Amino acid sequence: MAVGTAWCKPEAVEEMGPFWSSNPISTIPWVARYSLSNPRGSAEAPRWLQLFAGYLLGHAPNCTHFPGPGSDSSIIDPEVERRADVATPMKPPIALPLGELVPSPHLFGHGSTLHGQSHVARAMVHAFCLIDATGWREEAPRLWAAVYIHDLARTHDGVCYRHGGDAVNKLKTLPHLQVLFGLGGVQDSDYPFIHTAVVHHSLPNELDKDHPHWRLTSLLKDADGLDRVRLYDLDPRYLRNPQAREMVDFAQALFDETDGVVPVGDGHFAELWPEAMRLRGGLR
Ligand SMILES: [Fe+2]
Ligand SMILES: [Fe+2]
Repeated sequence: MAVGTAWCKPEAVEEMGPFWSSNPISTIPWVARYSLSNPRGSAEAPRWLQLFAGYLLGHAPNCTHFPGPGSDSSIIDPEVERRADVATPMKPPIALPLGELVPSPHLFGHGSTLHGQSHVARAMVHAFCLIDATGWREEAPRLWAAVYIHDLARTHDGVCYRHGGDAVNKLKTLPHLQVLFGLGGVQDSDYPFIHTAVVHHSLPNELDKDHPHWRLTSLLKDADGLDRVRLYDLDPRYLRNPQAREMVDFAQALFDETDGVVPVGDGHFAELWPEAMRLRGGLR
């Protein structure tokens, strides 16, 4: 494969999201699995297949460089990638439609403005920015999944040490989420990392820094911790990664300008993300 064209993704198939693949043979079973497990998938599958067919026929030659699930990003020329980063705004590191990247409000066990969809969506923005800032792109799919589920099992807004463990158990009852995570690049081998991170995010003790799952756990806790601006008690000294400590002003601006402004619902993240990138650009 030519340098710089790995997972070359035409802008015109951006909407195709979960069914994006450079291999048509592998696309069809993904569409079938997603359609069977998610009512929204069955409604939208024909349009995604149509977009994909258009791409195969040679339409839409403009490409972005972000690697998709299963790609070998090591073959991308770093200089090509650097120039692309300068020229294009940051995209989420998960090749799915924006609306699929955060949970719908109905998935939360407890309707809350403190720990509901808008909080998780801001934590997701911080998670993706941390991936970009640290360069730890291999963490992206499992960090996405960990942020996605971390507060789904809360039953109240108070101090709670068990909702991380409960979230891991809740995921086992939601097969369509497991399929979605697979479409977003989560591998079976990622789940022990995700479980550790999600369980520990709600525990008072810190994971040992030598633990093999520390990096993902620290990213989840920092992404979650940055949104403590909503509680007016973010202390940057408690953030684990230096890149997170550089994001405090951004976290404050994101909360101030979007909380209660961007409506919750299935379109929440699609509206929040460009606003977050606008704010991020303004603070640089
Ligand atoms: Fe939590
Ligand atoms: Fe949280």
